[in-house]
Amino acid sequence: MNLLILGRGKTGSLVAEVAQERRHHVRIAGAKENADGAALSSDKLNDVATVIDFTAPHCILANIEACVKAGKNMVVGTTGWYKQIDHVRALVERHQTGFVFAPNFSIGVNLFFDAVRTAAAALRYEYSGQIFERHHAHKKDAPSGTAIALQGVIRESSGAAEDLEITSFREGEVVGLHEVVFESAADRIYLCHDAKSRRGFAEGAVRAAEWLAGKKGFYEFKDVWREL
Ligand SMILES: NC(=O)c1ccc[n+]([C@@H]2O[C@H](COP(=O)([O-])OP(=O)(O)OC[C@H]3O[C@@H](n4cnc5c(N)ncnc54)[C@H](OP(=O)(O)O)[C@@H]3O)[C@@H](O)[C@H]2O)c1
Repeated sequence: MNLLILGRGKTGSLVAEVAQERRHHVRIAGAKENADGAALSSDKLNDVATVIDFTAPHCILANIEACVKAGKNMVVGTTGWYKQIDHVRALVERHQTGFVFAPNFSIGVNLFFDAVRTAAAALRYEYSGQIFERHHAHKKDAPSGTAIALQGVIRESSGAAEDLEITSFREGEVVGLHEVVFESAADRIYLCHDAKSRRGFAEGAVRAAEWLAGKKGFYEFKDVWREL
């Protein structure tokens, strides 16, 4: 496939590496090449099959709008835009493109979501719960998109009226650590996912782009990763 990777940062660079290993043709554009959407004009996107975005909250909506309006499929790893999700879904449906997004493209985290979904039954048995997330000091959004997704998984599966509190820590070079703790008077249940590197995110994103080829529709990775 001809892939355009947006973002030359920590994750985007690794996505490009993984995509090349999987024999895709890859172009990559960072902030400089894509100033004011310069990398997303219709002639620049002409031969691109799918755009994979790992950029930043300040530019993600403009990137999505340009690519979707040009009829391009997209895989979006960038977080911090989920309040606009209805707007983006409507845009994708109007332009009949394919779109996969996730706060976390790692298969391990998606397995972790399943474990948390099961353990969330604790909230129906006099347990309280808390979410903790730790990331490197350069991360721009807090709480992390993954922590917000954990809140949603727990809300849906437990039926609890209130969302669990999220506590965020920003320190050093932590790739991404998420903990869910359920506590009763009698005991504590700890669930933890600790990313050792960014490779899991990059592989998931490239495989999502492969899965999306020839498809239309608005998908979240947690609902499709089992089909990869
Ligand atoms: N879904 C997942 O699995 C997952 C995993 C990891 C990270 N993320 C998310 O992905 C995003 C990027 O994370 P990261 O750790 O890779 O951050 P990062 O290292 O800061 O990289 C972001 C890159 O985006 C570039 N950029 C900024 N504006 C741009 C634009 N208009 N067009 C193209 N590129 C632009 C920046 O380029 P310059 O350096 O040239 O300014 C920077 O290199 C964040 O939102 C993060 O939360 C998601």
